[in-house]
Amino acid sequence: MESTFDPHAAKALLDWQIELGATEAIGDLPVNRYELPDTPPAAAAATKPRAAQAVAASVAPAPAADPLAEARAAAGAAGTLDALREALAGYEHCDLKRGARNLVFADGQPSARVMIIGEAPGRDEDLQGRPFVGRAGQLLDRMLEAIDMSRTAPEAGQAVYITNVMPWRPPQNRDPKPEEIAMMLPFVQRHVDLVDPEIVVLMGNISCQAGLGRQGITRLRGQWTESYGRPTLPMVHPAYLLRNPNAKREAWADLLELQARLRGGA
Ligand code: URA
Repeated sequence: MESTFDPHAAKALLDWQIELGATEAIGDLPVNRYELPDTPPAAAAATKPRAAQAVAASVAPAPAADPLAEARAAAGAAGTLDALREALAGYEHCDLKRGARNLVFADGQPSARVMIIGEAPGRDEDLQGRPFVGRAGQLLDRMLEAIDMSRTAPEAGQAVYITNVMPWRPPQNRDPKPEEIAMMLPFVQRHVDLVDPEIVVLMGNISCQAGLGRQGITRLRGQWTESYGRPTLPMVHPAYLLRNPNAKREAWADLLELQARLRGGA
């Protein structure tokens, strides 16, 4: 008897079902899944028609994703800052991404001698897709101006490049979780390698946790150390200065320390 079935349409239907996640063909007859097989599974697999084996292989569950390994691979493959931004945009393992309006990648001059690494975007940064544009960011700009530096300066010596550990805003501005920081570390390291600054400034506790593996900014600030393979100066976060204006004195001392180092005097 000739079949009325169009084989191309049948194949397309089958492909579509596999794409939807179907892992089994339902037959006309009911299957008793409690019945023990006559042949052991290994032997049964060997006798399966090749086409069935191919379908089974194509629908086998994907191995569990390893977010860290994927972050390392994606970051390592990025050869430019644009490619790194793309890699971050395509990274799906950080839940913060789903709640954020924008990816906040960086601002300033990639040729700058100084790279500032903050914590995470807040509301304004999330809206604009640029780091440090809210109140804390405006204070940061004024602090930098005080030592003749800015994110818009064309000269590498006066310019800064600014990014954050986290490129997505955490809900209610909560601190990023250790596993969220860990996922971003390969991207931050690659970011530093691509910008290749002479000096890294870590702003605030989260940034110190990510870059140095420890917190305690009031003890760490102003002390030269190393992170991401570069000379590093931890500084208090401008948001902290907004809440504790008395700490501006120490922040000023740290800015002078940075300036002296850039002038070759520290
Ligand atoms: N605080 C940060 O650490 N980064 C920003 O971009 C804004 C506020």
